[in-house]
Amino acid sequence: MKKSVVLITGISSGFGLETAKLLSQEGHTVYGTVRRALEPLPKVHYLQVDVRDSEAVMKAVDEVVEKEGRIDVLVNNAGMGIGGPLEFATEEEIRLQMDTNFMGLVHCVDAVLPYMRHQKSGKIIALSSIGGLMGLPFQGFYSASKFAIEGYCEALRLETKSMGVSVVVLRPGDFSTSFTGSRRKVANPVALEAYPIYKTAIEKVEHDENGGLKPIVLAQKISQIIRNKNPRNGYVVASLEQKLSVLLKRILPAKWFARVLGSYYYLSK
Ligand SMILES: NC(=O)c1ccc[n+]([C@@H]2O[C@H](COP(=O)([O-])OP(=O)(O)OC[C@H]3O[C@@H](n4cnc5c(N)ncnc54)[C@H](OP(=O)(O)O)[C@@H]3O)[C@@H](O)[C@H]2O)c1
Repeated sequence: MKKSVVLITGISSGFGLETAKLLSQEGHTVYGTVRRALEPLPKVHYLQVDVRDSEAVMKAVDEVVEKEGRIDVLVNNAGMGIGGPLEFATEEEIRLQMDTNFMGLVHCVDAVLPYMRHQKSGKIIALSSIGGLMGLPFQGFYSASKFAIEGYCEALRLETKSMGVSVVVLRPGDFSTSFTGSRRKVANPVALEAYPIYKTAIEKVEHDENGGLKPIVLAQKISQIIRNKNPRNGYVVASLEQKLSVLLKRILPAKWFARVLGSYYYLSK
């Protein structure tokens, strides 16, 4: 199997950590970004990067190419979520959400593309979510950030295909990672009072995530995509029930699907 030079963003926990572990065990050369000091994984190269900082991202990618002579795969994984009624999110919270999940991806792609174009090869694997295919209640800005990733990647794929660069979008369902604990909840105390349905809905979200799949499942999918010479444009990696929800979103009239989703999150009377 051909070994790749891989850069993964956000390897301190969750998908990033499992993917860094698996790919390095498989013999790939793995670089991963972190924002704080951690117990290092053997054979993994660490880079200090906040993906909101375009210069730091550029410097990290330059360092990879300086040392390895190329960069084959970007796994754009770093991300976070904001929970709460859309109405009560502050501008600072919204910017944090979009700057991390969406602009973080843009910074990474801008940094790797000049090298991938020059090499005439490369794979960009972007973490979207099932929430990038349907607007999730009380995770609206998170969904918006993932919808942005979906649209951006669709266009990016068309622009870069002739240069030998492929773009693969991953849409995980619920997984049990640090994502749930790190979720920033909208701070305004009036939010709960104004939206009594918020409490039960967010409890349902957290319950599903905590009982979700293990991150190794997604790491294995990433490993397969790296090996695959001709991967699909996107993959839903989720339980059967959540895969079904994606199918329903595609085939049901929008009003019917909204009713299904609303009742799943106990929103409707
Ligand atoms: N878990 C799920 O159910 C699920 C479902 C669908 C999609 N996803 C997506 O999967 C990706 C990974 O999530 P996860 O579940 O593995 O969550 P996680 O365990 O919380 O990992 C998130 C990683 O992103 C890093 N990160 C966050 N903000 C960053 C920033 N500004 N700059 C650099 N790194 C940053 C975190 O680093 P720090 O430790 O420094 O914060 C951490 O390493 C995210 O894009 C998420 O939206 C997750």
